[in-house]
Amino acid sequence: MKKISLSLAFLVISSTYVFASSPISNGEKIYKSNQCASCHGVNAEKHALNSSKIIKNMSLDSLIDELKEHREQKSTEVLAKAMDIQVKGFTDEQIEDVSKYIKTLK
Ligand code: HEC
Repeated sequence: MKKISLSLAFLVISSTYVFASSPISNGEKIYKSNQCASCHGVNAEKHALNSSKIIKNMSLDSLIDELKEHREQKSTEVLAKAMDIQVKGFTDEQIEDVSKYIKTLK
């Protein structure tokens, strides 16, 4: 019995680990905790501030490219700057994970 509960505990711990470290669930956390939804919509279905593309329709590569560009804080244009600060200091991995999450939205 002890052996069984030990292996059960192991299963629970290892599946939690897999879940916590998956790019999609990590991306979901980033999307939800960085207010992305407040401008782009819960399902990435809106034109943020009436200006952005509908980001769920973008390809994974273009999402990643655009986010990296915004991360560089190069723009002098007000709306682009509003987006630039959202991804300031993001790692490549954070950008990739949040982009993968956006691609799961319908
Ligand atoms: C304050 C509102 C706001 C928030 C919050 C916000 N964005 Fe944006 N986002 C914008 C605007 C406005 C644009 C369009 C910028 C432009 O016109 O250059 C944009 C552009 C983008 C683009 C490129 C699409 C395009 O039209 O060029 C992506 C991808 C994106 N946002 C993802 C995100 C993600 C991921 C987050 C959360 C980390 C986020 N945004 C948070 C306002 C926001």
